[in-house]
Amino acid sequence: MKKSQLLLLASFLAILYSGATALNETYYASICPNLESLVQGAVRGTMSTSNIAAAATLQIFFHDCFVQGCDASILIQNASGDDEQHNFDNQFVRADGYKTIMAAKAAVDADPQCTNKVSCADILALAARDAVFLSGGPTWKVELGRYDGKISTSNSVNLPRASDNFDQLMSRFSVHNLTPTDLVALSGAHTLGATSCFHVNSRLYPTPDSYLDPGFAINLQGQCPAALNVNQFVLFDNSVTTFDNNYFKMLQQKKGVLFSDEVLYVDTRSSSIVDKFATDQSAFFTAFVDSMLKLGRIGVKTAVDGEIRKDCRFTN
Ligand code: HEM
Ligand SMILES: *[C@@H]1O[C@H](CO)[C@@H](O)[C@H](O)[C@H]1NC(C)=O
Ligand SMILES: *[C@@H]1O[C@H](CO)[C@@H](O)[C@H](O)[C@H]1NC(C)=O
Repeated sequence: MKKSQLLLLASFLAILYSGATALNETYYASICPNLESLVQGAVRGTMSTSNIAAAATLQIFFHDCFVQGCDASILIQNASGDDEQHNFDNQFVRADGYKTIMAAKAAVDADPQCTNKVSCADILALAARDAVFLSGGPTWKVELGRYDGKISTSNSVNLPRASDNFDQLMSRFSVHNLTPTDLVALSGAHTLGATSCFHVNSRLYPTPDSYLDPGFAINLQGQCPAALNVNQFVLFDNSVTTFDNNYFKMLQQKKGVLFSDEVLYVDTRSSSIVDKFATDQSAFFTAFVDSMLKLGRIGVKTAVDGEIRKDCRFTN
């Protein structure tokens, strides 16, 4: 056997034994050649009418991949109410994110070549990338070829919490083979969007926790009064629709809005990563892309256990 053949065999066996599905960047090249521009056009459209659309789309991708893998199970609506969307951890996801993905799916299906040939899971992965890019962040080639899951249950949802410390966050990330660098880089998604006071008040009352800059704590108390109103929000950073490294600079100043954000700077196991990303935006962008690719490979389904959903909200 030639060396090149051996290498081919080795990589084939590696895929076989890891159980991993081989996604690739050109999966739809002949099936739906205009896929990328169709999705990007739809994301651009919803972003022009909603300044929260990009943030919500990116958050949905994360909430999907961490639960049953990147299979668009988060989009399923079960009339019985037993689905991922109904779990408490998904109650704060903004409708503009779901609308963005539905708009992208409609745009794809409107092209006769593409109708019902692209999975909702792949559309979500592309839309999340475009949300980042169109907010001023990095772009990258999205790996494609995921199938849509057929199951969505409320009980399966188990997501990181705003009250988690570093060990709790890492235990949730390491289940998916994600490292502390992935945790810090992906948390950089909080450069976009906002949080309900629901996730902040416990840090502020009766007295602000020690991770908070005292002046910033007073500022937060002004935005989130002690009498909790879940409909009041705090923006994660002051460039809330711009994907940049400002989030990490805020962590250095003890101005991380969530406890789980500030913990990344307080804990010595991740503080140097925060410092790196705060001083070098391109290092953050490179790491973010790398971590998004890893996130996108979690629990990918194939034709054996998945399908190409006709309506992203319902199994076929
Ligand atoms: C590290 C663990 C994480 C925790 C504990 C966490 C927690 C939260 C919480 C509590 C909110 C606010 C929800 C609300 O009240 O509206 C939020 C928002 C958000 N999260 Fe995370 N998150 C984490 C990681 C991630 C990751 C990995 C991503 C994406 C790659 C992400 C993307 C977002 C975005 C974009 C928003 C803003 C949504 C909006 O403005 O509508 N988060 N997150
Ligand atoms: C991408 O994956 C599909 C399905 O596994 C396969 O048919 C196609 O040849 C792959 N393309 C490349 C460039 O590997
Ligand atoms: C909807 O939920 C019910 C009750 O949990 C379950 O039996 C059914 O299979 C679910 N339907 C779908 C399409 O997941």
